Amino acid sequence: MNSCRWGTKYRVLFLIAITLCSLTLFHWTMRPLPLSPLDQRLVGERDVIRSFQTIELDTMDLVAHKNGWVGFQDLKAVDCTSTLTATSVDNSQYPQSVPRVTDAQIEQDAAADCPNFNRKYGFQRYPEVTEEESDFPLAFIILFYKDLDQILFLLRAIYRPQNAYCLSVDLHSPPAFIDAVKAVTRCLPNVFLASKLEYVVYSGFTRLMSDIHCMRDLVKHPVPWKYVINMPGQQFPLRTNLEMVQILKLYRGANDIEGMTGKRLLHKRFRLKHRYQYDGKTGRQKIVRTGQRNPPPPHNLMVVKGSAYGTYSRAFVDFALNSPVSRDLLEWANVIESPDEYFWATLNHATGLKVPGGYTEGPPDQKQWVTTFASWDAENPCATKRVRWICIFSTADLPMLLSRQELFANKFYITHHPAALHCLDQMLYNMTVTGMVRDLDYYRKLKFVKRHTEA
Ligand SMILES: *[C@@H]1O[C@H](CO)[C@@H](O)[C@H](O)[C@H]1NC(C)=O
Repeated sequence: MNSCRWGTKYRVLFLIAITLCSLTLFHWTMRPLPLSPLDQRLVGERDVIRSFQTIELDTMDLVAHKNGWVGFQDLKAVDCTSTLTATSVDNSQYPQSVPRVTDAQIEQDAAADCPNFNRKYGFQRYPEVTEEESDFPLAFIILFYKDLDQILFLLRAIYRPQNAYCLSVDLHSPPAFIDAVKAVTRCLPNVFLASKLEYVVYSGFTRLMSDIHCMRDLVKHPVPWKYVINMPGQQFPLRTNLEMVQILKLYRGANDIEGMTGKRLLHKRFRLKHRYQYDGKTGRQKIVRTGQRNPPPPHNLMVVKGSAYGTYSRAFVDFALNSPVSRDLLEWANVIESPDEYFWATLNHATGLKVPGGYTEGPPDQKQWVTTFASWDAENPCATKRVRWICIFSTADLPMLLSRQELFANKFYITHHPAALHCLDQMLYNMTVTGMVRDLDYYRKLKFVKRHTEA
């Protein structure tokens, strides 16, 4: 019967349709799900290695130099040489601002065409890497949450193809910001986003963990770096890569970590326990002090305070990440305030442990610290304003900054007299091209260098 034949036909069609449908459904359910921001932070590490293996160092070197220096386009007219050699500089003589580059623009440029991005943003501007520098690669950690255009200005200033760079972004920043950062890292094979990011709480443990995640990634990274320097995004170098290499070679494995004892320890921060609490005003977690006593640190370690920022030898990083003592110290530090200001300093000055690159040859306070210059108080000049006591440097601070021996200066705002960044950058670029190195005598005489005996 007709109806029966039609019935069979329909049944066959129906079966085919069902099969197609279920196949599609199967594929759809098996597709990689869009990653949540939290999962996304876990894919970084594989990307790091993969992208690094595809690096074309030689081609990068070849196109370098031809492209010249890229500063702020709008400050082209500024004569940096006379600015930098003047005995005093008047801020009002310089443009007060530059147009900002949005995160979206940066992401678009990076996603569209990497060679073009690298040219436009100046990442191919340098001459060939010297043998001395490629034999002594460095690693850098930059922690930030905003102002990607300023971050790129900093990254470019310290960028060299033989080094490794870990970017750690606070997860409080919008996902679009993190996407823009990722787009940038895809254009620079030796720059990567940390495989694990944190919601960074001011003064909290997550601040310390951000650096530790980067260090864990860096020890696995194919670049055989000798030292790692961590910094905030508002820092800027005062030395070229070649100068840093020659200075750090003098250190012979010694770390440069700040150390303070006595009243400057701020005892309450670690003698009492702290916990996280939701802050209705900001909608974020904050650190609050409890009345509970925190026991002294494990292994009879003497608490020493220092900056969160420093210069750490590779062997020290290995020790800090893996030794049972430092693991116990890290656990202890979980409930203290600003653990990043105690963890490195306490390890660096621990006696009887043979901490690689550590300093036990004298009181911590008498040892210099040259990683970063920040102007905190009336003792140090500041031409314009201070934010939370720290000077925000301006063009008028340049003559003073040039007299400093520190490797970096902190802080600069891209919105605050940007000619300061512009001219420092131009100077370092010129020095890189000519291979000029300033006198290193100061570094040879540093206590932690002179007294350090190589392991
Ligand atoms: C850098 O070099 C260029 C080209 O020689 C020069 O015009 C500029 O003034 C120099 N700037 C500094 C700060 O040395």
